[in-house]
Amino acid sequence: MPAYKSIVILTGAGISAESGVDTFRDKDGIWSKVDYRDVATPEGFVRDAARVHDFYNQRRRGMKGVRPNAAHTALARLEREFSGAFLLVTQNIDDLHERAGSASLVHMHGELGKALCQACEQSSPWEKDMSVLSQCPACGSIGYLRPDVVWFGEMPYQMERIGTALAQCDLFVSIGTSGNVYPAAGFVGEARFSGARTVELNLEPSDGHSSFDEAILGKATEIVPAFVERLLSGR
Ligand code: NAD
Ligand code: APR
Ligand code: ZN
Repeated sequence: MPAYKSIVILTGAGISAESGVDTFRDKDGIWSKVDYRDVATPEGFVRDAARVHDFYNQRRRGMKGVRPNAAHTALARLEREFSGAFLLVTQNIDDLHERAGSASLVHMHGELGKALCQACEQSSPWEKDMSVLSQCPACGSIGYLRPDVVWFGEMPYQMERIGTALAQCDLFVSIGTSGNVYPAAGFVGEARFSGARTVELNLEPSDGHSSFDEAILGKATEIVPAFVERLLSGR
């Protein structure tokens, strides 16, 4: 592989699957059990906040005992050993990338371990169950907290930073995402427009697979470490 100067990586639920975190659209995925309109939209939260809190409380509890896997660790190694510009953009709301050591990281859909206050608009670390009676750690208001997660119809975080990185990258790698949800699903097009090489690593071809120069199919814990090794050894 040529020596790249600037790499952008996009990850989705598939990179955390082998850590035991459910994906959304695989067989028995989250959206086959819960209607996303009830728990991942602002309208759903207005309709029944307790239901939404329960959905994210269950996912927060489910993260206890979950560990980063070899794919998360390989991406942290790539960030450490790659000499050029590097940005990891994840759609995931788990904290497995940071626990594996990734630092140049954007959670474009927010974070399960954070609470957003609708009174003071501060985001605070949040590990326990959240309810309509929870108190904001920043301003003390009660009844204004929501999970700091971007829902359908809302704007993702740090889109300007992501757009700048995509405009400057010469390698774009998408890992473990079905390419179903925009704007993330459109990043490959932005990277191609910048002249970047585009590679998809996934269990199966994603909805956007035809936009990629190369596809490597397999389980993330196997194909991601091998891909990072290949990149770092210049092969
Ligand atoms: P969208 O149109 O980009 O995506 C809608 C997605 O909802 C579809 O791609 C489909 O995969 C999914 N969908 C539709 N019907 C479904 C069903 N019955 N069951 C399960 N999934 C279903 O979403 P949008 O409303 O245009 O919002 C896009 C914005 O919302 C973007 O900013 C995106 O980043 C954000 N977002 C956040 C989350 C999240 O849960 N954090 C999820 C999706 C989108
Ligand atoms: N290794 C590699 N890829 C995998 C693995 C694995 N072990 N397991 C599953 N995958 C792939 C699946 O083939 C699928 O293409 O990961 C992808 C997961 O796709 P989704 O479940 O749609 O998850 P994601 O693409 O992250 O969803 C995007 O939609 O609902 C919203 O907010 C949610 O951020 C999420 C967004
Ligand atoms: Zn507050």
